[in-house]
Amino acid sequence: MHPSPHDLSSLSSTRRQLLHPQHATAYADAAHLAIDHVTNALGRVRGPVTGLDPARAAAPVHEVDLDAPLGCTAQALSELDRVWLDDTVWFHEPGYAAHLNCPVLIPALVAEAVLSAVNPSLDTFDQNVGATFVERHLVDWVAARAGLGPRADGVFTSGGTQSNLQGLHLARDQVRSRRPGTDLARLRVLTSVDAHVSVERATRLLGLAPDAVRTVAVDERRRMRPDALARALAEVQAQGATTMAVVATAGTTDHGSIDPLGPVAGLARAHGAWLHVDAAYGGGLLVSRRHRHLLDGIELADSVTVDFHKTWFQPVSCSAVLVRERDHLRHVTFRADYLNPADGGGATRAPNQVDKSLQTTRRFDALKLWMTLRVMGADAIGEHVDAVVDLARSVHARLEADPRIEVAAAPELSTLLVRPVVPGLDAAQQDALVPRVRAALWSGGRSVVAATVVDGRRWLKLTLLNPLATPEDIEAVVADVVEAARTVVAEQAA
Ligand SMILES: Cc1ncc(COP(=O)(O)O)c(C=O)c1O
Repeated sequence: MHPSPHDLSSLSSTRRQLLHPQHATAYADAAHLAIDHVTNALGRVRGPVTGLDPARAAAPVHEVDLDAPLGCTAQALSELDRVWLDDTVWFHEPGYAAHLNCPVLIPALVAEAVLSAVNPSLDTFDQNVGATFVERHLVDWVAARAGLGPRADGVFTSGGTQSNLQGLHLARDQVRSRRPGTDLARLRVLTSVDAHVSVERATRLLGLAPDAVRTVAVDERRRMRPDALARALAEVQAQGATTMAVVATAGTTDHGSIDPLGPVAGLARAHGAWLHVDAAYGGGLLVSRRHRHLLDGIELADSVTVDFHKTWFQPVSCSAVLVRERDHLRHVTFRADYLNPADGGGATRAPNQVDKSLQTTRRFDALKLWMTLRVMGADAIGEHVDAVVDLARSVHARLEADPRIEVAAAPELSTLLVRPVVPGLDAAQQDALVPRVRAALWSGGRSVVAATVVDGRRWLKLTLLNPLATPEDIEAVVADVVEAARTVVAEQAA
């Protein structure tokens, strides 16, 4: 049967949606529409959020019939406004002070546009050619910034969770290769009470015992205490178990605290334990001219996590795991005849990044950092890092003198923990206030903050990652906190 004229025209328009030189105009038109659309959406933003609750956010999504295409990019984009964009979260807004999300750099957005159009995969050389070397060059550059030495290597990953998993994977297999027959149930990972949850998640994925993670106490600024680490290491030894790794955090999720990397490295080494430094948050300090010293000791790590999608202002996802000894990456090397044969499939073995990665098909996220460095340079990123560190410190100093607010210890990075002071409330009532204040702020749409629990007490958390925000902007967020607390208390009393 021959296709009807209608079928033919829809077939040709369907084909036009594939990127091809003959469809270059369609591609350029669609790409411009998308950029105009985002530009217009930015122009309509009136706050970091509109305060939608999950039910109202779900409704317009569920109304869409995915079997009824609109056949038109402009219409699909305008539908997207209702479905998502009109009520999304905008991280460039100064009132956004919640999680570790950053506003993004424009050169990285240019890279996103290029890399997704070309669509290389970073697993094998023959799927990307020069991209392999772009990634390698960047890994070498970041590792040199960290001071990891001439045998350093690493690979880009999807985020801190994956980077931490890979670091601990290498640690586990390094122990097993040194001591074949090691009982996984007897391996321990020592880390501070404030380590990111991905550390524990990694130990489970790696087949370690449910109690493999032993937490180490922190000092008054929430940094791992070396004396407590020394005791924990001795205890593990006394129990006949093995410390597989010590995980130090350079920028804890809740406090932005940086564990004392030098002393922690000395203790780990003395006990023959792998040192993984989770610098997912603090990694941006590698390019800071004024605060780089906060990472002193990172050069002693066996593996390091750096999240470019946090303090390097890159779009999600963009992270790397670095190692001091490139040979250790062999623990994640698996061979397949169809992918990366040991004998090169009869030819010289290609420089395949899949040999170093937990992933197979993998995005060319490195291009974002590459374009950022080529357009702006490392110092410019570092200035943004310095700006958020300075911002947090100056707001902290002001809040210490503010009787309306209790503020936790001074930040090393850019996180502030605050609690509204409401006279007459006991600790439990104050704690109950925290989620209600947070919810009130969300509904108001002007300020967004996160929350956490420290030593059993609830706090509101402000993570400052917007270099364009001013102390006055953050004080406005705090004023919203104070006002929301007053309203909640008044409503309760009524
Ligand atoms: C210290 C730390 N490590 C690891 C992670 C996990 O990173 P990702 O969310 O990119 O997986 C986070 C996330 O906030 C973090 O704060």
